[in-house]
Amino acid sequence: MASSRSSAIASTTVPNDLEPYWMPFTANRAFKARPRLVARAKDMHYFTPDGRKLIDGAAGLWCTNAGHNRDPIVEAIQRQAAELDYAPAFQFSHPKAFELASRIAVLAPGDLDHVFFCNSGSEAVDTALKIALAYHNVRGNASRVRLIGRERGYHGVGFGGVAVGGIVGNRKMFGTLIAGVDHLSSTYNRAEQAFTVGEPEWGAHLADELERLVGLHDASTIAAVIVEPVACSTGVLPPPKGYLQRLRAICDKNGILLIFDEVITGFGRLGYAFAAERYGVIPDMITFAKGVTSGSVPMGGVLVRKGIYDAFMKGPEHVIELFHGYTYSAHPLACAAGLATLDIYREEGLFERARKLETAWYRAAMSLKGLPHVLDIRPVGMTVGIDLASKPDGVGKRGLAALEAAYFDHDLMLRAVGDTLALSPPLIISESQVGEIFDKVAKVIKQVA
Ligand SMILES: Cc1ncc(COP(=O)(O)O)c(C=O)c1O
Repeated sequence: MASSRSSAIASTTVPNDLEPYWMPFTANRAFKARPRLVARAKDMHYFTPDGRKLIDGAAGLWCTNAGHNRDPIVEAIQRQAAELDYAPAFQFSHPKAFELASRIAVLAPGDLDHVFFCNSGSEAVDTALKIALAYHNVRGNASRVRLIGRERGYHGVGFGGVAVGGIVGNRKMFGTLIAGVDHLSSTYNRAEQAFTVGEPEWGAHLADELERLVGLHDASTIAAVIVEPVACSTGVLPPPKGYLQRLRAICDKNGILLIFDEVITGFGRLGYAFAAERYGVIPDMITFAKGVTSGSVPMGGVLVRKGIYDAFMKGPEHVIELFHGYTYSAHPLACAAGLATLDIYREEGLFERARKLETAWYRAAMSLKGLPHVLDIRPVGMTVGIDLASKPDGVGKRGLAALEAAYFDHDLMLRAVGDTLALSPPLIISESQVGEIFDKVAKVIKQVA
C-alpha cells in the first residue's frame, strides 16, 4: 500500500502523506495521484497551496452563497469562540439559538414558523422524516408510516435520506435501507426538455404518479413526500412548470405531508430565501443547511409549519415532546455564523441580486450549446447542469477530466457529477465574472472533447 502514497507536493504547508484521510464521495486513488488542494479563500476565489488563484464556480459545494471568508462572518465566529464555546443543546440553550430560529422563520413563507436545528443536510432530512412519522403518530394516525421520495433525488447519506433518495450508486451497497419507501419518477426527460432555459413546460403530469401510489398503498399508510424543488446534486433538474403545485394539491387531498429539501435551493440559490417562494408552494417542512452559514460552520435545520409544532405541544408540560436532537444542535459558533450570514444576505440584497443576474447567467450558460459533446444545458436560478456525452471507455471519465482541466489548467473550480458539470457560484458574483466562468468552462469542454 505504501507504494501508492503520494509525496507529490513539495510545499511545507501541505501534508506529504495523503493516505490516512479516506475522502468522501471522491475517487481517492485518482485524487491522491494528482491532488486538488485549496489552502485559502476570499470572496469569489480559492487559492491553491502554491498560490494559484481559482475562481469558484461552485460556491465550494453549493454552500458559500455569501462568498468566502467574509469579514463579518469571520469576526462573528471569532467573537463567539471567545465568549461561549458550547452550550448544552438538551435542557439548556443560549440566546443566539432563539434569535437565529426567529430570523430564519421570518425568511420562510407562510406559517413555517418553527426551526429544529442540526448540523448538516443529511441530519436535516432524517429529522424531517422522523418529525413526519411522529406527527402522524401524535395525532393518532400511526398507520401513516410510508415515505415517498423521487428517482434521482439526493437527500444526503443518512439511512432515511438514502432510502428516499433515488441515486443508484448511493443505494446499492447499503442493503434494504428502511422499509416502506416508494419513489416518484424523475422529472427529467431529455427528449422533451433538452436545452430548456429555466423550468420546462413538459412534465407537470408526472406529479400525478403520487395518485397512483396513493391508489397502491392507500393514503392512510403514507406519512410524507420529500422532493428537492430543483434536484441539484444529480445534475440540476428544474421542476416542470406546475409540477410542485400539483404535488401540493395531491398531498392536501390525501393528508400527506410535503417536505421540500432546500439544502441547496435555500438562501438565495434560486433568487429567493427559499424555492418555496419562487414556486409559490408552501410545503409542510423545509430542510436547509449549506447557505445558512455560507458554509463557514456546519449547520442544518428543519423549518416546520405551526400546525405540526402545535400538534406536539400537548400533554404534561414536564415531558419531552420529541425524542430527537443532536449534541451540536444550534451550536453557538454555527448560530453566530448564521446570524452574520443572514445580515450579509439582507444588507447586500444577495437574493434579489441573484434574481437580477439570472438573465445574464442563462445567456452565458446557453452560449455553450454546440460545443463538442454537450448534450443538454439546464440553467435555473444561479445554477446550471451541463450534460456531456460519456467517453466510450467509461461513464464519469469525461467529467473527471473536465474537473481536472478546470483546476489545473484554467484556474476554475467546478463540480462534476458523473459526466455532468454543475455550476453554482457565490451570489456576490459580478456580471463580468459570470462571463469569465463560462469562458473557462468553454475551454474546459473543448479540452476534454
Ligand atoms: C438536497 C440535499 N439534501 C441533503 C444533502 C446532504 O447534505 P450534507 O452533505 O450537509 O449532509 C444535500 C447535499 O448536497 C442536498 O443537496
